[in-house]
Amino acid sequence: MKLSVIGTGYVGLVTSACLADVGHEVIGADRDADRIERLRQGRSPIFEPGLEEVLARGAASKRLRFTTDTVEAVRESDVIFITVGTPSLESGNADVTAVAAVAETIAASLTDYRLIVEKSTVPVRTGERIRDQIHLLTRGAVPFDVACNPEFTREGAAVQDFMHPDRIVIGVESERAERLMRDVYRPFDCPILVTNLATAELIKHASNAFLAMKISYINAVANVCERVGADVGLVAQGMGQDARIGRAFLNAGVGYGGSCFPKDVAAFVQIASAAGYEFGLLKEVARINEGQRDVLLRHLTEALWVLANRTIAVLGLAYKPDTDDMRDAPSVPIIERLCRDGAAVRVYDPVAERNARRVLPEVTYCADPYDAARGADAVVLLTEWPEFGRLDLTRLRDVMRRPVLIDGRNVWDPEAARAAGFHYAGMGR
Ligand code: UDX
Repeated sequence: MKLSVIGTGYVGLVTSACLADVGHEVIGADRDADRIERLRQGRSPIFEPGLEEVLARGAASKRLRFTTDTVEAVRESDVIFITVGTPSLESGNADVTAVAAVAETIAASLTDYRLIVEKSTVPVRTGERIRDQIHLLTRGAVPFDVACNPEFTREGAAVQDFMHPDRIVIGVESERAERLMRDVYRPFDCPILVTNLATAELIKHASNAFLAMKISYINAVANVCERVGADVGLVAQGMGQDARIGRAFLNAGVGYGGSCFPKDVAAFVQIASAAGYEFGLLKEVARINEGQRDVLLRHLTEALWVLANRTIAVLGLAYKPDTDDMRDAPSVPIIERLCRDGAAVRVYDPVAERNARRVLPEVTYCADPYDAARGADAVVLLTEWPEFGRLDLTRLRDVMRRPVLIDGRNVWDPEAARAAGFHYAGMGR
């Protein structure tokens, strides 16, 4: 099939590359000329394991190409995916300006039937609004359908998740749209759930908010564990062995970040409120999440007494491993607090340094974890990159000024850390 994908951010790039890989002809469009030029040279503008290989296969097969010309992309494809950004506004609402602008461009380019698929995470009823605006702009003269196809891939595993989804959700309003969407996803072996537009839109917010709730739940349990001498890791194991609960997303730590959970929880609260329902549960989810930063800082202050003039080494800046993404990373507010309190901060992250420099200019970027720890009064781990779990703790201790380990992701074995001579504090253990 001939497809186009408007917006070559995380979602758009993975979508276009993977859909070309399964045999479709795909045009990726973006108004950012630099980005398109990089992509034409075969270079991925983001760090995502496996993506460059899929992009290279797409270029070699000539099934994947990139353009800055959205009009051309619309004209030359049967199905158009909208994957532009929907950042959070101050209010928590998603900013759908970019989606609305793309809908206008599509309307101006329509000459005959097209299926327009919203894949960006958007408030419920956005599909309806896209449909109504295009209908108004084209004065009802051109047939088209709007579908909703939410994205469930995780950053860092996006290619793998896209190719092997748990399920595909399709919100449609006509049989023609359903048929086309089933054709797009024919190469994939997984259940396909077909719903109306609003249901598909809600599935996305309800799923992400639920996962965020699981994390905040275990973090709240971790806070109780600390007070009563229980170990949250074992609590999570015991809970997770109940098939109804499951072990996934029960890792306590400094909380969730990234481009989805904080934004989607806030947006879902707003969506519910606009519809007349106060989703207090989700407000608490967000509150608990932000509180985890204070928990970590309290552990640090307990160990160091004061933070002014102390040197703190931070290991891991990205909001989770296997990504260079710094959006809503807990490391940012934590490091800003450390700097405000007068600490000198030395940091190391295997891949996020380039993005981190833009948001955290005041810190010293180091070549490796031992370099970051040199002369430090404490090492604070914020992202569970696997290499941190394999560090030589004795060597780490020897380069530090005070042997203090604050483990924001429960990566190290507390006994091993203490045996290596550290004052150790994890989250909820
Ligand atoms: C998430 C959803 O998983 C995905 O389905 C959706 O499409 C986009 O949002 P992503 O943001 O890439 O994906 O990351 P994910 O792996 O889900 O982790 C989100 C955050 O939660 C990270 O900051 C992670 O560190 C944190 N987390 C996750 C925990 O703190 N504890 C856990 O047990 C799991």
